[in-house]
Amino acid sequence: MNIIILSRNASLYSTQSLVDAARRRNHYVRVIDHMACDLIIESEKSKIFFNNQPIEKIDAVIPRIGSTATTYGAAVIRQFESQGVFSTLHAEPLLKARDKLSCLQILGSHGIGVPKTVYVSNPYTMPFLLEQMAPYPIIIKLVSGTQGMGVILAENKSNAESILEAFYATKEKVILQKFIKEAKGADIRAFVVDGEIVGAMKRQARPGDFRSNLHRGGTSELIKLTSQEEETALKSVEILGLKIAGVDMLKTHIGPVVLEVNASPGLEGIEGTTGVDIAGKIIQFVEKNRK
Ligand SMILES: Nc1ncnc2c1ncn2[C@@H]1O[C@H](COP(=O)(O)OP(=O)(O)O)[C@@H](O)[C@H]1O
Ligand SMILES: [Mg+2]
Repeated sequence: MNIIILSRNASLYSTQSLVDAARRRNHYVRVIDHMACDLIIESEKSKIFFNNQPIEKIDAVIPRIGSTATTYGAAVIRQFESQGVFSTLHAEPLLKARDKLSCLQILGSHGIGVPKTVYVSNPYTMPFLLEQMAPYPIIIKLVSGTQGMGVILAENKSNAESILEAFYATKEKVILQKFIKEAKGADIRAFVVDGEIVGAMKRQARPGDFRSNLHRGGTSELIKLTSQEEETALKSVEILGLKIAGVDMLKTHIGPVVLEVNASPGLEGIEGTTGVDIAGKIIQFVEKNRK
């Protein structure tokens, strides 16, 4: 097959792992930066150019779209899909999942456990909503943050107020969220490929932090998910219309709650922790869909 991996950086672990897996299975694979793709739109003969050359005769694309390139990344995916190219990630599910507010709205409306979350759209109702969020501390989170950056613990109401004021000034979209203390700085990452959990790990925040992201110094270990956790992860991914995703969940006494669903989940942590060739599973998924 002729496969394109959309990635801003060919030397990233996840990109490299996919390239290796595709070559091992005898595919022709190229890494292309989606931000360097040019889109020409015409009725039923739209084209994608890279370095002034049309990209043609592609069997599949594997998009790895980072949080700084979501909108244009989605446009590039949409253009490939309009040309009938199989993509492991569709444009609309990427947009739904990437926005933490829309992701939780959609999952919550389908009965998936989510932490109580509030979106404050204007400064006038902020004092009322901050009152509603008690007891403190609470979480304040950037709607499109990633790798634990932009997830803040506000100790009390006045603390939360000053953090929100700063975000208003910069026009950043933020959500308020109940702080789930009983998780004790641990979360669960379930990796889903094509309706199947291919790996799962527990991540623990480093001492003094509550964010368990490996990029924030967290540690990870292999775990076996409960059937409720498996079901929650698989259902969440299906509801959003994703095929490959990393679901972040917290354990609570009333079952798992989903924090977010990552549409371009990193492979390094999960492959390193579980020993599973997840990139290989992704390539197999691509093969299955081209046959
Ligand atoms: N409501 C919360 N209660 C407790 N811990 C949280 C909460 N939200 C986030 N965290 C911690 O912060 C980490 C990062 O949050 P997450 O929503 O997954 O954003 P990111 O996209 O930055 O990974 C989580 O993995 C978890 O450890
Ligand atoms: Mg996360």
